[in-house]
Formats: sequence, C-alpha cells, structure tokens
Amino acid sequence: MNLTLKIWRQQGPQDKGKMVDYKVSDISEHMSFLEMMDVLNEQLINKGDEPVAFDHDCREGICGMCSMYINGEAHGPDRGVTTCQLHMRMFKDGDTITIEPFRAKAFPVIKDLVVDRSSFDRIQHAGGFISVNTSGNTQDANAILIDKHDADTAMDAATCIGCGACVASCKNSSAMLFVGAKVSQYALLPQGQVEAVDRVKNMVAQMDLEGFGNCTNTGACEVECPKGISLENIARMNREFLSANIKS
Ligand code: SF4
Ligand code: FES
Repeated sequence: MNLTLKIWRQQGPQDKGKMVDYKVSDISEHMSFLEMMDVLNEQLINKGDEPVAFDHDCREGICGMCSMYINGEAHGPDRGVTTCQLHMRMFKDGDTITIEPFRAKAFPVIKDLVVDRSSFDRIQHAGGFISVNTSGNTQDANAILIDKHDADTAMDAATCIGCGACVASCKNSSAMLFVGAKVSQYALLPQGQVEAVDRVKNMVAQMDLEGFGNCTNTGACEVECPKGISLENIARMNREFLSANIKS
C-alpha cells in the first residue's frame, strides 16, 4: 500500500504546531499502525529529519500508551482495539490518513503525538486503591465470598487501561468513563467498602481540579473505548458520589 499521512507536528508544549504531509510506500496490510509509523520514522531518520514522537510501550493493548487520533477517531476506525492493535488492512492503497494527538485541556501536548496524561495518575492517587492492613492477622482476600455477577462486573470495570480515548472522544473532554470504571471496580467488591466514601469524593474532586468536563450522556466515550467500558460505570459513580455526600 502507498499512503499519504497528514501528521500533527509540534516541537514542544509552547509551539503552535501544524499538520505536515508525508508519503509512505510498500506498507503491508499485516502491519500494525505503529509498525507503519516505524517505517515512516526510519525513512525520516535516513533522510536526516526528526522522527515523529509518539507514545507506545506494550504494543499489545495493555498499557494504554498509544494515544493517537486517527481519521477523527481515538485509536482509529476499528472497534475494541488500541492503536497498537489496529491493522493496516483497515486502510486502502492510496488512502490519506490524518493523525493527531489526543486533544483535551487536561492532556497538554508534550511533542508531536505525545500528550501528558499525568492528570489520570493524580486521579488514581486520589483514591484508586485500597489500603491493606498488614498486621499479620489480615484475612486472605480469597476467603471472602463474592457474588459472581459482582466479581465479573468489577473485572469488566478493571479492564480500563487508562488510555484516555474516552476523554479525547468526548465533546466536553470528560473523564467520567475512566473515573467511573476506577470507582466501580472497588465499589462492587467488599474490599472496596472501607474507603468507599472518601474514594469517590476525592477522585471526583481531583477530576474536576484537573479541568475535565462533565458528562452530557452523548456516549462517544463508550463507542471509542478500546476495552468496551460501559456507561453503566458512570451511573454507578454518580450513585456512589450521591450516597457518599449524604453519608458524610
Ligand atoms: S474508559 Fe476506556 S477509553 Fe477511557 S481510559 Fe479506560 S480504557 Fe481508555
Ligand atoms: S502500546 Fe500499549 S496499549 Fe498500545
């Protein structure tokens, strides 16, 4: 396949940035999108040009690093996959592909396609954990019986990889699908009950502090989420938040 790539280039956080056109040729349909980007970067390095900066780590859909907005969609045109799992067979010979960073006030661009998503880390630090008492008398977690449906729903919420596609797809740059998933994975389990009130209040407060918008139930986040995180998690977080405010 021969392709034209229109890629966002931005030297640093203060640079205005612009779209730049590149040509790549002999791209196999079996390549992943990131492998295609590797081909481009090799081409640029050989010419003495600066390669395109983009984030990646696991390249198997686990780490959530490969944040790219491809042809107007977070993680590109396929469903239920991250950019590293997107295959070039989703495109045709002669296609023009537009590649931009995830855009949101709370995700400032560091360089080219790399954005700073440390706002997600700070939300996690505000309550996305359970404290474990290591007194020596702590009960084995596996000894606590958990309803199968609750265990499965908590596991589904826990598959959120913190990629930020939900924020990038939302017209309000809302992080509520991410925070809803992180709150839900503990809210559904007995181990999460001890700190439940503080958790939801602190995580929501940090989310607001970081400058994410509110949810207006458009549902774009659920459609673009590579892990199929359900909007039900936002509803559960809202219930948890209301109940925490009544209790405290
Ligand atoms: S909810 Fe989905 S889109 Fe949002 S951060 Fe988690 S995995 Fe990514
Ligand atoms: S590089 Fe890890 S999810 Fe894509």
